[in-house]
Amino acid sequence: MAELRRYRQGEGAPDVALVEARRQSRRVVLSWADGSHGEFPQRWLRDHCACSACRHPLTRERLYSLLDDPLWTTLDTHDALAEQEVAADCLSLTWADGHRSRFDAGWLHQRRPGQALDTLLPRAAPWQLDFSPHHVSHAEFSDSQAGRQRWIEALLRDGLVLLDDGPRELETVSRIAEQIGPQRATNFGARFDVRSVPNPNNAAYTAIGLALHTDLPNWRQPPDIQLLYCLENDAEGGESSFTDGFAAARELRERDPQAFRLLSETPIDFRFQDDGHDIAVRQPVIDLDSDGEPCEIRFNNWIRDTLSLPLAQIDAWYDAYHAFWQVLREPQRRVELTLAPGQMVAFDNRRVLHGRNAFDPNTGKRHLQGTYLDLDMLQSHLRVLTR
Ligand SMILES: [Fe+2]
Repeated sequence: MAELRRYRQGEGAPDVALVEARRQSRRVVLSWADGSHGEFPQRWLRDHCACSACRHPLTRERLYSLLDDPLWTTLDTHDALAEQEVAADCLSLTWADGHRSRFDAGWLHQRRPGQALDTLLPRAAPWQLDFSPHHVSHAEFSDSQAGRQRWIEALLRDGLVLLDDGPRELETVSRIAEQIGPQRATNFGARFDVRSVPNPNNAAYTAIGLALHTDLPNWRQPPDIQLLYCLENDAEGGESSFTDGFAAARELRERDPQAFRLLSETPIDFRFQDDGHDIAVRQPVIDLDSDGEPCEIRFNNWIRDTLSLPLAQIDAWYDAYHAFWQVLREPQRRVELTLAPGQMVAFDNRRVLHGRNAFDPNTGKRHLQGTYLDLDMLQSHLRVLTR
């Protein structure tokens, strides 16, 4: 059916042999051997025809254009099917204009209207208080599909995963990223070095402690996934810490619904400026999805710009921001770790806040290399691995 993924077959799969097809007011009602039924509007069936004229056999993209099909207007009010034929493994339809469509029984079974199509992606699970991140070894990640799959699934589920025992080689982070997809470049380049440098343009390039934050909330789309690869970490201090921003936002909603509402409904300004850039956006600190659940956290005190709000809202906003910060920084929700050379942490930058303790550059070297990846590439890689 013009798809690279097969519908479920074999042991434990439902018996998806078709047993009956009936027509009922411009719908086709199907029954399968496992006892399930599905009603399909004729328009839906015509739209999803997967013959080589309707779907390109190589690109698998839709060629059929319902908007240009004279049959479409008929389908609105009339039965436009000339004939239907049922076999155990397929439904064959002949339309009034002579076009023929053929649908696999199992493909239709998976797509019966009202049945959510399995996305095959793990859902984000908020950290519990005893949360500790999943580890995958560099060798498992590089040499086996199963290792890479576990790494991606943990990252999608927990928003944080560790990779252990990689080489102490420059640019390894880019090689790892590119096994998944192209590096997402920003104004700091495709790959960045985290160590203290003279004349820094960013707090990360100093030795000071970094309070929990998300990177680049001043972009309309901040980077999705951040990879931080440790090359050297001998300096005293510099421990990394992480907290689940979604879990903290939900906790804030419990404790202080008014603060949660203010932070999710009030856009504020974020801005980064240097000699060549001025990247700014106005967005709320907590963004919600269509179900009202947190789907993005923008929290970065360095690049929070002038707070430009009506006078009556300013104090209330500061109170709400402070209340959220109290929850975010609670030690029991924080994962703290010292990255070892050859270890990489990957996290969902739009969900998990990260920070680090100050380090003393006089006691040793600390050098991390980082890059970003788009979530789309991660999800795509997982779908391909599990085909
Ligand atoms: Fe950062």
